[in-house]
Amino acid sequence: MEIIELGRSIRSRDPARPSWAEVIFAYPGLHAVLWHRMAHFLWRWRLRGLARFVSHLGRFLTGIEIHPGATIGRRLFIDHGMGVVIGETATVGDDVTIYHGVTLGGLSWNPGKRHPDIESEAVIGAGAQVLGPIRVGRGAKVGANAVVTSAVPPGVTVVGIPARPPAEHAQDPSVGYGLPRAPLDPVGEQLAAMREELDRLRAEIEALRPRRPDAAD
Ligand SMILES: CC(C)(COP(=O)(O)OP(=O)(O)OC[C@H]1O[C@@H](n2cnc3c(N)ncnc32)[C@H](O)[C@@H]1OP(=O)(O)O)[C@@H](O)C(=O)NCCC(=O)NCCS
Repeated sequence: MEIIELGRSIRSRDPARPSWAEVIFAYPGLHAVLWHRMAHFLWRWRLRGLARFVSHLGRFLTGIEIHPGATIGRRLFIDHGMGVVIGETATVGDDVTIYHGVTLGGLSWNPGKRHPDIESEAVIGAGAQVLGPIRVGRGAKVGANAVVTSAVPPGVTVVGIPARPPAEHAQDPSVGYGLPRAPLDPVGEQLAAMREELDRLRAEIEALRPRRPDAAD
């Protein structure tokens, strides 16, 4: 029975180690998957209006929006859940973990395949936006609040905007705290600042000149 499989998987993956009662009655991620199973069943029988309505009810009760057309694998764990959006042509493998605020969304206005494929055992961190018909490989990790618009290879972790492996975000160690980058030409930048200062002083001298009685034109 799927509710047991989901409950068992949530209990083993959630470090809060919830009781069975908590998981069954107070885990919106579990409820959302069950609502989706109903909606998806109706969608496949081409009862699309009814499917959308069931999906809408699930969204109303859980805060998680899964389009009835989306393909969801086994033991999906949506932790917390509020604000999750999973688009129509998205696919999610087995044992995937998704946190609140995640979007598996599209970038195109055209119908057809436009949402991501998340392979088994991937983890999508809170607030991450995974956009377009891209593949997030098996066991890959997407950092909280990352924006992913290109494929993530299996087992790779990506963070930031645009999402890349953490090492590729590394800053030049000579850069001061909070500065975006080291100056490319420090001497040139100093010279440019001095030239600006000189121009400003020249303008001030020019403005003072007419006031002196002995000023020559
Ligand atoms: C991306 C993530 C999976 C990486 O975990 P990890 O492999 O253990 O990596 P580390 O924590 O060692 O971090 C590696 C580097 O990435 C940086 N980093 C980690 N997460 C990041 C993120 N979300 N955004 C930007 N940078 C991040 C770290 O600062 C570190 O940088 P450094 O090497 O310059 O010090 C994890 O940080 C994450 O974001 N998980 C999502 C968890 C989540 O959403 N929890 C919600 C619970 S309610």
